[in-house]
Parts: sequence; structure tokens; C-alpha cells
Amino acid sequence: MVAQEIEFKVLRYKQGQSAPSHQTFRVKCDENTTVLVALQDIRRDQDGTLILRHSCHHASCGTCGMRINGREELGCVVKVLDLGTPTVTVEPMRNMPLISDLVVDMGPFYDRFNSAGMPFIRESEFLDEAEVAEGIEAYQRCENCIECNLCVSACPIMGTDPTYLGPAALAAAWRVVEEPRGLDSKPLFDWVDSENGCWRCHVAYECNEACPSGVYPGDKIMSLRRELTKRKFRRLFGR
Ligand code: SF4
Ligand code: SF4
Ligand code: FES
Repeated sequence: MVAQEIEFKVLRYKQGQSAPSHQTFRVKCDENTTVLVALQDIRRDQDGTLILRHSCHHASCGTCGMRINGREELGCVVKVLDLGTPTVTVEPMRNMPLISDLVVDMGPFYDRFNSAGMPFIRESEFLDEAEVAEGIEAYQRCENCIECNLCVSACPIMGTDPTYLGPAALAAAWRVVEEPRGLDSKPLFDWVDSENGCWRCHVAYECNEACPSGVYPGDKIMSLRRELTKRKFRRLFGR
């Protein structure tokens, strides 16, 4: 395993600074070094003030979203040498308030999920035999979506209009339409049919490209549009 020294240009920002700027580091990487591991090496050996977020290291927690060479990625699964570039640029996700270095405020992401007053993130059915860890009321599920925000970061409409509901929340809405489990989905249809809802999408599918979890949020937005159109047609023509 031959290690290569790779240059990292990492966007740095601390509260109170007027603007972020790139800082350069050099890290020895072998074929197994991921971008997340390289960043952790930088923090351990070169600059302990580098702030980043991660947990699982295997593409399931959704916390290590970042932009690597201009693309939305989970840092834990991108191998540095696979990028094939002598310099790797690492930046925080777009379209969310920047807190520090590679960490953005995920509050607005979750706020969108709640704005229809619908239970997009559902409590699991409680099984008597299930052991629930102390302090946790019930497990919650959002199926394939790992809530990483990469689709929101990649979406050009989100960049120009922060009131747009965005790909992740709209994909979650479609999941409820597909599987309403007895819910009245009228408020949800009103929500996605609004000015900032699924008609705002410009259908270039950057969100599909960015999603690491097979949600294909752009496709779900198109499904919502088709369903809304069918419903309008039925209302107008009674069939
Ligand atoms: S397809 Fe729609 S939601 Fe997806 S990135 Fe493009 S504008 Fe955003
Ligand atoms: S839809 Fe995909 S990209 Fe968007 S938050 Fe969920 S997992 Fe991440
Ligand atoms: S650290 Fe969990 S998805 Fe990357």
C-alpha cells in the first residue's frame, strides 16, 4: 500500500469572521483513506480547531455531508485517491447557515419536514417484545432518507429561494402519499401544491445525483406533480 501526499484545500470559517477562506493542508493518504479520515488526521495532527461532523463512518448516519471537489458527498465513503486529483477541495454544504468550518445549521432542514403538520418522521409501531433504550420514547423511521441534506445543498432553487420546500421534504411528503396509513393527506397536498412546493422545482435532478441513499427526490417531486394533476383533473371533470 503506497501512501501519497495529497493537498487538501479546506474552507475555514469561525463565527465573527467576515468571510470564509481556504486553508491548505497536506496529508499522506493510501488507497483506503477516505476524505473524512484525512480531515480527522488534519484535526489530530495539524489543526485541532478544524470543526466537522460525523458519526457512523459507513454512510448510514447522514452527518458527514460536505462538498468534495465541488460535488455533494458523504465524506466517509469517498476515497481520496479515487478522486484522482492532486488537490482535494473540501467545503461545507450549501443552502444552510454556516456555523463553523464544515458544519452547517441543520435546523432549517428539519423545520421543512414539519411545516405541513404531518408526521413525516414517524414513530415506529411499538412491539411489546422490543427493548427501547432508556430515555427514548419510541424509535423513529424515515425509510431510505438518512437526512444528510446533500440534495438540499445541490439544489439550485434552494440557493435562490430559501422558502422552497426542497427535495428532501417533498420526497418525504410523497412517501406519506404512497403510504398514508389512515392519515388524511389533504393538508399535505395543500402544502406541496403551494407556491413554494413541487411546482417550484426546475427538474434538472441535481438532487437525484447527490442523494447517497437511493431516495431519488427529484423523481418523487414529479410523482407529486402527477398526483396533483390527476386530482385537479378529477375535480374538474368528475373522473
Ligand atoms: S430537480 Fe428540483 S428539487 Fe431536485 S435539484 Fe433540481 S430544482 Fe432542486
Ligand atoms: S433525500 Fe437523499 S440526499 Fe436528500 S436528505 Fe434524504 S438521503 Fe440525503
Ligand atoms: S459518518 Fe455517518 S454517513 Fe458519513
